[in-house]
Amino acid sequence: MELQEAIKRRRSIRKYTDQEVTREQIDAMLEAAYWAPRVNERWRYVVVRDEKTKHALGAQPHVPAAPVNIVVCIDWTDVSERDRKLYAMQEASAGIQNILLTAHELGLGACWNGSFDDDATVKAISLPDEVEPIAIISLGHPAEKKDKGLRRKKIKEIVRWEKY
Ligand SMILES: Cc1cc2nc3c(=O)[nH]c(=O)nc-3n(C[C@H](O)[C@H](O)[C@H](O)COP(=O)(O)O)c2cc1C
Repeated sequence: MELQEAIKRRRSIRKYTDQEVTREQIDAMLEAAYWAPRVNERWRYVVVRDEKTKHALGAQPHVPAAPVNIVVCIDWTDVSERDRKLYAMQEASAGIQNILLTAHELGLGACWNGSFDDDATVKAISLPDEVEPIAIISLGHPAEKKDKGLRRKKIKEIVRWEKY
């Protein structure tokens, strides 16, 4: 799939079929995250597939309904000020985007979820104190089609060309 097409046609998919997501597909998405731009590689990825754990994450209903969830976490051990403010979240976000684009390339549907019960998620996947969940990526074979993106701001509203 051509990169620009993947970037523009990827949509958040929140309905999934029961069809299995294979180990190879999961590995391909994790490898894409691995190759994202990084600083200190504080990102951690926890793959959740069993029903009990999925429900215990305390997220929106499409999360436990997805065959696979990847909980993206940050390990805050010995963190610097700049790491805390900028780097850790930025590198993890780059990893998330790589996962979403790879899911799309594989014909899967995925959604980046930031709304979940932090304490429930920590407990459900037994995270140590220094590791914080920052997003859950729900994914599976799509059971909905989304051709059009949501209305977005116009590019000129968000871009300023300084002294061009
Ligand atoms: C940081 C972040 C957090 C998000 N959290 C949620 C969420 O909790 N639940 C959800 O359904 N979608 C969530 N989304 C997905 C957005 O709703 C979605 O990307 C947006 O509506 C644009 O749609 P598109 O992804 O199809 O282009 C989140 C996206 C981002 C970037």
